[in-house]
Amino acid sequence: MVNFLGTPKIETERLILRKMYIRDTQAAFDHWLSDERVADHRVNAPHKSISETSERVEKVISGYEKTDFCYWGIELKHNGVLIGEIDFYNFDSSTDNCEVSYSIGHKWWNQGYGTEALKAVVEFGFKHMNLHKISGSHNMDNPASGRIMRKVGMEQEGMIRHMIRNYKNQYKDCAVCGILQEDYFHNNANTESCILKIG
Ligand SMILES: CC(C)(COP(=O)(O)OP(=O)(O)OC[C@H]1O[C@@H](n2cnc3c(N)ncnc32)[C@H](O)[C@@H]1OP(=O)(O)O)[C@@H](O)C(=O)NCCC(=O)NCCS
Repeated sequence: MVNFLGTPKIETERLILRKMYIRDTQAAFDHWLSDERVADHRVNAPHKSISETSERVEKVISGYEKTDFCYWGIELKHNGVLIGEIDFYNFDSSTDNCEVSYSIGHKWWNQGYGTEALKAVVEFGFKHMNLHKISGSHNMDNPASGRIMRKVGMEQEGMIRHMIRNYKNQYKDCAVCGILQEDYFHNNANTESCILKIG
């Protein structure tokens, strides 16, 4: 059974994963939600106005009322700047499986932050939430996302043609990847990458 703990604060070497607040709206808009380079790899269109971002942040905040809601803002430890988001979703109570998705602002790509954040939530999901499996899918033309999944031990299990249609009305073939809890424990017996702070 999944041990839902909401969205606790998680610290890694360079990041703090934490709940999002209304005060994060401008940074979320400026750093990733309004950016076409990020949206091109997601389903939803880039935000054109800050009111779209406000609505989204408010929805996230109201989600925190439930313990089965895991949605972290990704903050840089050294300067407190919010650079992205990562979440678990589609929890399935019949399997204890879920999915993960994430975005990092373009300015901070290729500095290892995506891998660091994904590694931390995967560790949290298996060690503290007792998830059975974490899955994720990425467009075939988004190798960076595939790379970070592979780096945390998620294996490609298949490819689904035209799995999504993006905001430009383009169908995208997606690679479906996943990692089982038993494989995670087998391969990471002594790994401790994050410090968990419940609260
Ligand atoms: C996917 C994403 C989160 C990665 O974040 P990041 O902080 O840049 O990730 P990291 O720096 O930890 O790792 C990126 C890896 O991809 C590799 N990479 C980047 N561009 C690549 C390309 N065009 N081809 C192959 N590999 C690439 C980097 O070399 C790096 O691998 P390495 O550490 O082995 O060198 C970020 O690109 C992003 O937010 N993209 C837009 C939103 C998105 O794609 N979300 C996921 C939807 S499934």
